[in-house]
Amino acid sequence: MSKISLIVAFDENRGIGHENKIPWFIPGELKWVGETTRATTDPEKINALIMGHNTWLSLPVDKRPLPGRLSVVISRNAEIDSPMVKVCRSFDEAIAYVKNNDRIEAAFVFGGTRVYRQAVDADVLDEALLTIVPGQYDADTYFPEMPESMHCTERHTVKYGNTEVLRETWKKADA
Ligand SMILES: NC(=O)c1ccc[n+]([C@@H]2O[C@H](COP(=O)([O-])OP(=O)(O)OC[C@H]3O[C@@H](n4cnc5c(N)ncnc54)[C@H](OP(=O)(O)O)[C@@H]3O)[C@@H](O)[C@H]2O)c1
Repeated sequence: MSKISLIVAFDENRGIGHENKIPWFIPGELKWVGETTRATTDPEKINALIMGHNTWLSLPVDKRPLPGRLSVVISRNAEIDSPMVKVCRSFDEAIAYVKNNDRIEAAFVFGGTRVYRQAVDADVLDEALLTIVPGQYDADTYFPEMPESMHCTERHTVKYGNTEVLRETWKKADA
């Protein structure tokens, strides 16, 4: 039974994307996301990234699927032919797939807005890792409010050059 986490970075307006790109470029943050989503305690297992079709398309063609992780892409019609990609036709199908796959240690809900919203509404998250980027960027996609069933258990700042982000860990209230 895989643990279900969510990972996101949003700005002071909760913006996450603009014209199918991330509005900021913070290399240290991307490195941290890569390390965090790849890390497993069992070397025999891998983690999964659950993402919407737009987020999949937002990744550079030569960078997808993101290495070392299984991409679970939600789409009504897309066909993606790769051993490291599983296409699911609904959010529920994606969750059932990762929960029933013994090879997957943890699944990260990876965006975008539509998929984050479904994760929050379905109340399936064990943990959420939120990075708050300073500033207000042009955005057309946003991160929803966290569910009342979760609360922030840890908060610290991280400095990347001149940019200081706030990182929060949220867990289920009864965890
Ligand atoms: N800042 C961050 O941490 C972060 C993280 C990830 C993404 N982003 C940004 O978020 C933006 C993309 O977000 P988005 O909200 O536009 O798109 P999205 O959630 O990535 O993808 C939406 C698409 O996924 C498919 N889909 C989602 N839920 C579905 C369901 N229940 N059943 C069937 N299909 C479903 C549909 O594709 P089909 O039309 O193919 O059916 C839908 O059009 C980009 O700008 C990206 O850069 C930011």
